[in-house]
Amino acid sequence: MKSLFFSITATLTLWLVAVTAVTFLSAGVVIYWGVAYTLEQTAREELIGKLGIVQHFVDEAVQDGNLETLRHHIDDVMTGHGELTVWLLNEKDEVVHGGLGLPVGQLREGDFEVRTVSGKKVAFTRKSLENTGSLQLRMAVIALDMAPRARLLRALLYLMLTAGSLAMLLTFTLSLQVTRHGLRPIGRLSRQAATIAPNSLALRLDIRGIARELEELAQAFNGVLDRLESAYQQVRSFNADVAHELRTPLATLISGTQLALSADRPLTHLRATLESNLEELEGLKSLVNDMMFLAHADHGTVVQDLVDANLRPEVQKVCEFYDALLENSSLKVAIEGETAARCSPALMRRAISNLLSNAIKFTASGGSIKLSLTEQGGIAEIAVANPGTSIPVEMQERMFDRFYQADPARVRSGDSHGLGLAIVSAIAKMHGGRAFCESADGMTCVGIRIPQ
Ligand SMILES: Nc1ncnc2c1ncn2[C@@H]1O[C@H](COP(=O)(O)OP(=O)(O)O)[C@@H](O)[C@H]1O
Ligand SMILES: [Mg+2]
Repeated sequence: MKSLFFSITATLTLWLVAVTAVTFLSAGVVIYWGVAYTLEQTAREELIGKLGIVQHFVDEAVQDGNLETLRHHIDDVMTGHGELTVWLLNEKDEVVHGGLGLPVGQLREGDFEVRTVSGKKVAFTRKSLENTGSLQLRMAVIALDMAPRARLLRALLYLMLTAGSLAMLLTFTLSLQVTRHGLRPIGRLSRQAATIAPNSLALRLDIRGIARELEELAQAFNGVLDRLESAYQQVRSFNADVAHELRTPLATLISGTQLALSADRPLTHLRATLESNLEELEGLKSLVNDMMFLAHADHGTVVQDLVDANLRPEVQKVCEFYDALLENSSLKVAIEGETAARCSPALMRRAISNLLSNAIKFTASGGSIKLSLTEQGGIAEIAVANPGTSIPVEMQERMFDRFYQADPARVRSGDSHGLGLAIVSAIAKMHGGRAFCESADGMTCVGIRIPQ
């Protein structure tokens, strides 16, 4: 039952039948009343015409004063007009010509009236007669039996009812076929959609020759597939990247351990192996931590400890953490400006730390790094600028992708997996902002902008 109610074919067909019924009914009512009115008007004209003839006979009869001749004339004229009856009344309101059943009393001069007399519809009209001399006539009444007209109307009604029913039946059958035909493309699209699976995500719905209304839906569906495909590709390459990142440290761990076990090794060798293993394990832990952070960010984890924080002290803390490294590489750091924002200070420190560690990695010994804090139009900006080879625009766009490293061989180290800037970007997004990179004339500036 449910499938019938929710079937477009059934609904459309029923609606079309209903529309046909209403159209036929309205047209039928108009035609019926129009014909009925016209029939009444012709009856009226006929009665008035006949009254004129009766008047003419009365005028003629007044001259010779012979009522019998008058009656005779009238009968002659009415022969062959069985539906017409003429009454003549004298001054005492006695009927001197015509039959019984004359409802004259209620008729006014010139009135045209349709009444039901002894179950029959009859149209009446009357005329006063003046100067009738010795005939002493006062009034002529003429009646027309409306039964033939009523029969015509009834026949018309039956005809219209039959035509209406036939039209509804035709509409039902045709619209059922037409709607089924019209909806066939939906079935085709459904069958196409059913063949799309993870291993055939490149397939799209064929929108050639499809109706405009369906084209919109099919295009929207294809748009969803586009986005799904690219998301699926990302997941695939992410998996490949993770496997790739895990393979080297695991191979190092295995070979180091196998070597240690392959012979009786002195304690110092075993200790060295364990230290190297620990370093690899720390690297793996940092990779897993970074991946978990990004996974949480993907799930839309909201920032918990939002506070109105001055960002300069946070930048200073991060710089202090990198003091030794900076000194080793003979690098200088300058902090400029000041700004505050509603943020998680811990996450800000993590982002600044990732930016600064990159700057340290990419600045030649003796160079100086500039950390600037600015604000404009309610947006706080933290930017880390360092001298170095300018980054081409297409690379600037990819830098924030997971596992992206322009030159892995150069930056490869235990905790360098190409996730640093992806985390910076995720932190910016978690604060309603975004990360940016500008690089020109031997100066690279990477940072984040977040609303204050
Ligand atoms: N300050 C910078 N100067 C030049 N290139 C940079 C800078 N920061 C990041 N990059 C490029 O972006 C890549 C991704 O950075 P990041 O996500 O931090 O990964 P990682 O530091 O682990 O390589 C780096 O490998 C490098 O190619
Ligand atoms: Mg990095």
